[in-house]
Amino acid sequence: MKRNIVAGNWKMNKSLAEGVQLAKDVNAAVESAGVLKCDVIVAPPFLHLTEVSKAVGKKVAVSAQNCAAEASGAYTGEVSAAMLKSANIPYTIIGHSERRTYYGETDAILAKKTGQALANGLKVIFCIGEELSQRDNGKYFDVVKGQIENGLFQLSADEFKSIVVAYEPVWAIGTGRTATSEQAQEVHAFIRKTIADKYGKEVADDTSILYGGSCNENNANELFAQPDIDGGLIGGASLVADKFIKIVTAF
Ligand code: PGA
Repeated sequence: MKRNIVAGNWKMNKSLAEGVQLAKDVNAAVESAGVLKCDVIVAPPFLHLTEVSKAVGKKVAVSAQNCAAEASGAYTGEVSAAMLKSANIPYTIIGHSERRTYYGETDAILAKKTGQALANGLKVIFCIGEELSQRDNGKYFDVVKGQIENGLFQLSADEFKSIVVAYEPVWAIGTGRTATSEQAQEVHAFIRKTIADKYGKEVADDTSILYGGSCNENNANELFAQPDIDGGLIGGASLVADKFIKIVTAF
């Protein structure tokens, strides 16, 4: 069974003390919300991971925002998947559009990173999504398909079970311009079909596909009501515990 997931991507925000406080606030809100219909994940910066892990209980999982493409060695400034595993971090985000755009991470690099993550037993939240010009010229299906094929389709069907896909149209990230639930559903259904064509319907139906891009406490409900939207990857609205918990409870 695919799982509903709400994941908070903190990006490069919060001091260590602020991050620990946010984690405690999210944890307290999750604890008092009772039975949830989704898994909850927070993805703080690398530096915060171990302290945030200590600040949350069993109902909140912790994710890195990135990991290295190489296993170990002379790669100054990098953090390996094995290091994340050794710190008991169960997830990493890979391929966020900010990594693709600002740090030149190509599909080939992202495929290597995914390989490292899976080899170390991490689950991967793999981000894909088109830019505004690609939406406007109608190329978005091709873009999304290419990102999946080149970043993920080297995996076996068994390995693919460790993948969560996050569809994040770049034009919706941090802009306040959310994709409509129809626009998001259309692409999510296409992503699921693309996965089904490669790995079969069962794997596709079991894959959680999250929407990201200006998802907030006001629109989460409508987005999550779509049949192929299994939750959200939340940026800005994950930095305020009250807003984040409203999204978590939107299911
Ligand atoms: P946003 O970011 O919610 O601030 O648009 C989403 C993301 O980049 O994961």
